[in-house]
Amino acid sequence: MKILIATRNQHKLTEIREIFSDSGLELLTVDDFSGLPEVEEDADTFALNAIKKAVTLAMVAKMWTLADDSGLEVDALGGEPGIYSARYAGEPVDYEANNRKLLKEMEGVADRNARFRCVIALSTPEGFSQYVEGVCEGVIVNDERGEDGFGYDPLFMPDGYEDTFAEMDSGLKNSISHRANALRIAWEKWEKLLK
Ligand code: IMP
Repeated sequence: MKILIATRNQHKLTEIREIFSDSGLELLTVDDFSGLPEVEEDADTFALNAIKKAVTLAMVAKMWTLADDSGLEVDALGGEPGIYSARYAGEPVDYEANNRKLLKEMEGVADRNARFRCVIALSTPEGFSQYVEGVCEGVIVNDERGEDGFGYDPLFMPDGYEDTFAEMDSGLKNSISHRANALRIAWEKWEKLLK
């Protein structure tokens, strides 16, 4: 069965391809279609943003569609940057500036607990949708560490590990990440629907 993955983020696509490699699904991306709309992520929860993206693109492409929305929640900042993770330091999206801002906000803060959260929504071509959620708990380190990954990876060290996401092998990150957890739950829940 063919399914549209509603993201242009190559890092996310790689993670999703890896996790669905044995699924038998044919994964299409927005680049396989012309004229798909850009969907603004202007809702106030990850779930509503993911559903909006999945339903809009599914109905235009007339295809089962999977969309995700994700971000970083820092306890000491009341859950920020949260749904504003991509644009934390303003537009256009600038990962470096976001990391600098986060480090500044966290200067002298003892509680470093944080988590990445990912919501995955699935929509039928008619626009009926469901969603699942995955998290990865960890801490915000004191300085950027590592070169791999994207976004806040150099600042996030998952619980039980000594490396940040940007220091660890991408295969390891892709097996423990919020997205991996959400996709695993999604596959358990939706395998029968998608076969
Ligand atoms: P979105 O899901 O594309 O809206 O992503 C939101 C933002 O959350 C990204 O731009 C990143 O800043 C951050 N983010 C989401 N997932 C990850 C990840 O796996 N590593 C690092 N940052 C992430």
